[in-house]
This record gives sequence, C-alpha cells and structure tokens, in this order.
Amino acid sequence: MSGSHYFTGAPEVESDRRPITVTLPDLTLELTTDSGVFSRSRLDPGTRILLEHAPPPRVRGPILDVGCGYGPIALTWATRRKRLPVWAVDVNTRALELVRLNAEALGLGNVQAALPEDVPADQRFAAIYSNPPIRIGKAALRRLLHQWLGRLTPDGSAFLVVQKNLGSDSLQKWLNEQGYPTTRVTSVNGFRILEARPSPEGEGPESGRGTTT
Ligand SMILES: C[S@@+](CC[C@H](N)C(=O)[O-])C[C@H]1O[C@@H](n2cnc3c(N)ncnc32)[C@H](O)[C@@H]1O
Repeated sequence: MSGSHYFTGAPEVESDRRPITVTLPDLTLELTTDSGVFSRSRLDPGTRILLEHAPPPRVRGPILDVGCGYGPIALTWATRRKRLPVWAVDVNTRALELVRLNAEALGLGNVQAALPEDVPADQRFAAIYSNPPIRIGKAALRRLLHQWLGRLTPDGSAFLVVQKNLGSDSLQKWLNEQGYPTTRVTSVNGFRILEARPSPEGEGPESGRGTTT
C-alpha cells in the first residue's frame, strides 16, 4: 500500500473508480473506490474488525468517522442507524467525493462528508468510529485525536482500531494520561479496539486534556 494518500488533499494519480463489495455479518454494501484512497481494493482488515467487533453507540446522537477514506465505516453506521446523522471526515477530497457518491447510491440521506475545517465548530458526537491514520506520525495523530475526542458529548465514546505493532498499547496509555479513560474492548488478529471516553470530571489541570503533544 502506498502511503502517499495519508498526506494528500487531492491525489495526483489518475482516477480509476472500481466497484467493491463490503460483506459484513449484518449487511452487504456495494461501494465504489478509487485510486489515491486508502485500501481501495478490499475492506481493510482493521476496518473489518472495527465494524464486526466494536459495540453500537452507547448513547443516541450524531456519529463521526474520522479519516473516512471511501467511507466503509461511515456508510456502515449510516445503514445501521438510518435516523442518525453520520459525519465522514477526511483531508482527501477524492475520498470525500466517493463517500458522497456511495451514500447517494445507497439511498442514504443521513451522511455528511466534510473536510475537517468544514465541520461546524459546535457540532458534537455521541460516538466516533475510526481506523485512524497512524502513519501521519505520533504528534500529528495525537493532535488529530485531541481535536475530535474533544467533540464527544460527555456520555459519548470513541472506538479506535489500532494494530498492536503500530503502538495500540502506548496510544491507550497516552489517552488515559490525557483525561480520556480508555479500555481495550477486544483484541483480534493483532488489532486492538480501544474505547476512549471523556472523563467524568471533564477538563481539569490533571486531565491533561487540551494539550497537543
Ligand atoms: C487508515 S485510513 C482509513 C480509511 C477508511 N476509514 C477505511 O477504513 O478504509 C486513514 C484515513 O485518514 C485520512 N487522514 C489522514 N490525515 C487526516 C487528518 N488530519 N484528518 C482527517 N483524516 C485524515 C487519510 O486520508 C485516510 O483516508
């Protein structure tokens, strides 16, 4: 897999849209992928584990997929929760176009695909599901998580799938230190699903929330 799309707003590689079938135990989605987006030819194994093993949202409210790619996570949750707004956020504009195209083809009117800066500042989320871009580097990843976990409602949860050998355990430790009590929901084939929640006390001098490194 080329890593270039991790840093790419608009991929330079020529568009080459292809169909892909995402089959999960509870649903099948016929989607379109393209060159220049993450895991274009098959559902990423970590994403599959997140979609098959993460629990449903603990509370009702808007759902967010951070780093949505062509949209397998956002579109799955939009199908599972048709009455809830689902936000799909990515820096890659080709990925966002695919999410819009896929949502329309699936008849889903509850999906909003947006660049990070286009999400209204006061928008809050009851649940975040993400296969986060680990390869952008530790500092950038931490900034990203701070940015979005800070948008959880007080009773919300973020479910993150991270490969053990890409630092899931140290990420869990860091999240705990930052004031997001984080547990391991499950571990499957070398992937961990972490659940991070805002601490009941909220921001405070000891929570560490608000720092970016
Ligand atoms: C591991 S991929 C997951 C893609 C998709 N959710 C999937 O499961 O196939 C991570 C995604 O994060 C995106 N990304 C990278 N940096 C980002 C940032 N700062 N904000 C939002 N998304 C970002 C990448 O473009 C990529 O699509």
